[in-house]
Amino acid sequence: MDLPKEIFLKDYKKPDYLFDTVDLEFQLGDEKTMVTSKIAVSPGNEGNSSPLTLHGCDLKLLSIKINGTELKSDKYTVDPRHLTILTPPAGVFNMEIVTEIYPQLNTSLEGLYRSTGNFCTQCEAEGFRKITYFQDRPDVMAKYTCRIEGDKTLYPVLLSNGNLIEQGDLEGGKHYALWEDPFKKPCYLFALVAGQLECREDSFVTCSGRKVTLRIWTPAQDLPKTSHAMYSLKEAMKWDEEVFGLEYDLDLFNIVVVPDFNMGAMENKSLNVFQSRLVLASPEAATDGDYAAILGVIGHEYFHNWTGNRVTCRDWFQLTLKEGLTVFRDQEFSSDLGCRTVKRIADVSKLRSYQFPQDAGPMAHPIRPLSYIKMDNFYTVTVYEKGAEVVRMYKTMFGASGFRKGMDLYFQRHDGQAVTCEDFYAAMCDANNAHLPNFLQWYSQAGTPTVKVTSSYDEGSQAFSLKLSQEVPPTPGQPMKEPMFIPVAVGLVDSTGKDMPLTSIYSDGMVQTLSNDGHPIFTTVLQFKKKEEEFIFKNVPERPVPSLLRGYSAPIRLDSDLTESDLYFLLANDSDEFNRWEAGQILARKLMFSLVADFQQQKTLALNTKFVDGLRAILQSTSLDKEFIAKAITLPGQGEIMDMMSIADPDAVHAVRTFIKKELAFQLKDDLLAAVTSNRSSEAYAFDHDSVARRALKNTCLAYLASLNEPDVTELALNEYKSATNMTEQFAALAALSQNPGQVREDALLDFYNKWQQDYLVVSKWFALQATSDIPGNVVNVQKLLAHPAFDMRNPNKVYSLIGGFCGSPVSFHAKDGSGYKFLGEVVLQLDKINPQVASRMVSAFSRWRRYDETRQALAKAQLEMIISANGLSENVYEIALKSLA
Ligand code: ARG
Ligand code: ZN
Repeated sequence: MDLPKEIFLKDYKKPDYLFDTVDLEFQLGDEKTMVTSKIAVSPGNEGNSSPLTLHGCDLKLLSIKINGTELKSDKYTVDPRHLTILTPPAGVFNMEIVTEIYPQLNTSLEGLYRSTGNFCTQCEAEGFRKITYFQDRPDVMAKYTCRIEGDKTLYPVLLSNGNLIEQGDLEGGKHYALWEDPFKKPCYLFALVAGQLECREDSFVTCSGRKVTLRIWTPAQDLPKTSHAMYSLKEAMKWDEEVFGLEYDLDLFNIVVVPDFNMGAMENKSLNVFQSRLVLASPEAATDGDYAAILGVIGHEYFHNWTGNRVTCRDWFQLTLKEGLTVFRDQEFSSDLGCRTVKRIADVSKLRSYQFPQDAGPMAHPIRPLSYIKMDNFYTVTVYEKGAEVVRMYKTMFGASGFRKGMDLYFQRHDGQAVTCEDFYAAMCDANNAHLPNFLQWYSQAGTPTVKVTSSYDEGSQAFSLKLSQEVPPTPGQPMKEPMFIPVAVGLVDSTGKDMPLTSIYSDGMVQTLSNDGHPIFTTVLQFKKKEEEFIFKNVPERPVPSLLRGYSAPIRLDSDLTESDLYFLLANDSDEFNRWEAGQILARKLMFSLVADFQQQKTLALNTKFVDGLRAILQSTSLDKEFIAKAITLPGQGEIMDMMSIADPDAVHAVRTFIKKELAFQLKDDLLAAVTSNRSSEAYAFDHDSVARRALKNTCLAYLASLNEPDVTELALNEYKSATNMTEQFAALAALSQNPGQVREDALLDFYNKWQQDYLVVSKWFALQATSDIPGNVVNVQKLLAHPAFDMRNPNKVYSLIGGFCGSPVSFHAKDGSGYKFLGEVVLQLDKINPQVASRMVSAFSRWRRYDETRQALAKAQLEMIISANGLSENVYEIALKSLA
């Protein structure tokens, strides 16, 4: 292949030509689909006469007309990626391009493709060029119509964006539908769906009294499983009106369920497309986790209607402008509908387990990347999750009402435009008459900052000082870093465990009075924006324990001088529940590190009693939220711990985590048993916070107990498995049982498969459970599952469950004999031929190979070298392998 081209943010240029209207016509067929595209073109710059270059990929060009006249072949050039019109007419003109495409052969699942017989599109980021020749970039915004023609029996439902304005029958058993989208949009938001689908219909009355028809489309047999998704959609529509004053802008909103889909879902204007897992749910077959994911993602895609669609991105480097903001919005939505602290804990854990490692590895990039080879490789936890943390910092600085003012101004200024991250920053700051020095560094610097905090108390002057220093680590291409603006939310806890009222702070040579119209304040946000800064709290009557970074007010690693006893004190007393959890996690991390050292020196492992007592107190609490308890007694994940070691040692971390789990189960057995029995319920399944919390606590305790692998607890878990009336409890019991290798495990797994083999979503869970298992020699099992009749390499959901799950399990993937690496290397090459986007997500598991010992390094590197030298490699996989080896 010719070497893939890297694209740079600094090279951005406005488009040469504008597209005002786009009228598409699809003639869907089993063998080929014909696409006619009529575009009203106008010059982008005054007097432009440059060639018009269009993107195109895997297209067969049938004809081009300019202003109605066929274009002669010497007036344009075609290469595998472009069509260039050499001398377009001056001024406004019409262009008509006819192409032929073959959706049934398209296994990449971008552009127009088939999934279980139906037609479906995925255009973000650059898939529209697989449908027709186009300026495939988000700053080209046009009004679209779409006429779809196809066999009426095979494709009874014909959907596209906007409003249905005409439909009817045609000769030869065909029919057509004509759709018109009144809003200008970039082509990545175009969508077409055609096939055999049925819908659940409902409606929503907006705040201004308009009735919107809501339809969720799915194969007929799945219709009963769409009620939670419909509920989620209506809640999202209401929430966006209440919290942001944002009303839906059309009379119809469609969601389509597709079994084969590369990502979670897609926000195409008024025609969202979802992979099945994120829509379909019933209590018997879906877990609380699935219900929560559906709520969050339905919200996410709906919220994109304003943050992404009405205001879109100027170029793909700005992706976090819509994704970071929309993730933030869906996090807030889920918080408001569930439990805020628990949601925050879940989001922060995700950031630590997945984003921190990315930010410390060869694929580290700022939330706004500086360059890419394949944009699809940058739909990352950094752009999404860290991006959401950056948006959250504006809210932390300006408060809910200041944040709302910023959002209002953003829409007022930019509705209908394709804009940049600076535009968002400016709207936030201007609406609040503020300036945040060094804040924009969050968009351009990669790497997780470390903030060190040392505290001191002076009794004589009643002053409590916090000295802060920050360090942003070097990342590829960015050896030196500038200080960043870091909001650090702080409270001071007195010796009785109460928050002290904060009266004034001294910093930067100034005293700042802290009060809220005479009301005492208990948490203040320090604006930490230099390499080093000191903040002195005045009028502090006794030495406090500082509660730092409350609510996790910035996406950093905090390194404080809090002692173990301070941490136990905060675990028991902090009014900030997030920080109570955090104190427990810091203690657990310290414990795990010291045990890892013991393990490596072949010392006997022993668990410190203070830790056990601390967790026992949490477990016995009657005042704490049950889901919070479940989170607080859960140890940090293996990935999070490995990420913090100088040489990641999967065997030691696994051994230690297993040891602590069993030891806790042994010492807390009575409390754990009590929690399991007292949290059973015979009520019908409900997805409300109390029920979810109850099940979470029960399931977490059951997993602890089952780790003991003793007859009584195995019996207990078996009973829970057999008596469960919902998937949340059934699957948790199965997972608890399958921790221990042996006949009980095998029987349970087989029983579960036999029960659920008809339901491919449940079968995916079954694959994932086995893939992520840390039982010895699991590579062989996973290899066997690859050949299982229910597995299908072409279905991304199954690949993510089985292969993705396997790569996420530290023990087997990192097996010291290299068998896990070898397995993945082979699979990546196979997958790449089918679906480069999916293959590239899998190959990413290798990217952190330098973190391991020399033996593992050599084995992983060999696989990467084997991959990168393979013939016909996709750009997607090439980019990840190249950067990993750099
Ligand atoms: N915009 C979609 C979402 O986050 C994701 C699309 C991802 N597409 C891709 N090619 N990676 O809601
Ligand atoms: Zn999104």
